[in-house]
Amino acid sequence: MARRKKIYEGKAKTLYEGPEPGTIIQYFKDDATAFNAEKKAVIEGKGVLNNMLSEYFMTGLNTIGVPTHFIKRLNMREQLVRAVEIIPLEVIVRNYAAGTMAKRLGIEEGTQLPRPIVEYCLKDDKLGDPLVTEEHIAAFGWASQQDMDDILSLALRVNDFMAGVMYGVGIKLIDFKIEIGRVYDGDFQRLIVADEISPDSCRLWDIASGRKLDKDVFRRDLGSLTDAYTEVATRLGVMPKGSTPMARPKLIN
Ligand SMILES: Nc1ncnc2c1ncn2[C@@H]1O[C@H](COP(=O)(O)OP(=O)(O)OP(=O)(O)O)[C@@H](O)[C@H]1O
Ligand SMILES: [Mg+2]
Repeated sequence: MARRKKIYEGKAKTLYEGPEPGTIIQYFKDDATAFNAEKKAVIEGKGVLNNMLSEYFMTGLNTIGVPTHFIKRLNMREQLVRAVEIIPLEVIVRNYAAGTMAKRLGIEEGTQLPRPIVEYCLKDDKLGDPLVTEEHIAAFGWASQQDMDDILSLALRVNDFMAGVMYGVGIKLIDFKIEIGRVYDGDFQRLIVADEISPDSCRLWDIASGRKLDKDVFRRDLGSLTDAYTEVATRLGVMPKGSTPMARPKLIN
């Protein structure tokens, strides 16, 4: 069997060449990293959960007319997506203060913000993905003004969708990060949501208990990450109740 071509090995995913030009296969690994990869672990089942959850969110976004790279899920760990030119920015939308923003501005975690706040970080691991302003983005040509208008509009639409979906299952969307990519359709180019949307890239708090159901469980050693992600998947109906997608196949003698 011909080996498929690996395009990129990231911290959480591996990209392979897709079956047709302009497509990519995203393989979701079990690797978890935090604090710019200073903290690392393998969390069995995380890749399966993120693959299913990202499929769920991206499919929903496509359905309401927010364009994404998602084409179809191929198996438990892989999905077929449109290849894009990634805009080198992490686009963060915050509804409640948390993480670096809470620290930077001295706001208590969990404080509701007056309105959703969109932040941009330069995608550069060596620099620790520094916060940048629209002035930097324009001056250095990372994205055009038209791109920035489109990115803001996509980010806020994703926020409304995600906040609504989460609220429906008793979860508060504190914040999230997305990546945006450029695709070309003939003479036209447009921006679409790429990468992944999963509890790795969102902050999700249970409304009733305040319990964290996202990657902060790993960052702050708050318990089992797979239990937290499974809880999100189960509430959304992505995983049947009581299933353990992360279990390795057992050898039967
Ligand atoms: N549709 C797509 N087409 C091309 N590249 C993509 C697409 N979706 C996501 N990517 C890129 O694929 C990589 C996914 O791997 P992963 O998330 O593990 O990377 P990472 O270790 O977080 O590194 P990075 O700092 O590049 O995001 C990212 O670099 C992301 O920007
Ligand atoms: Mg990534």
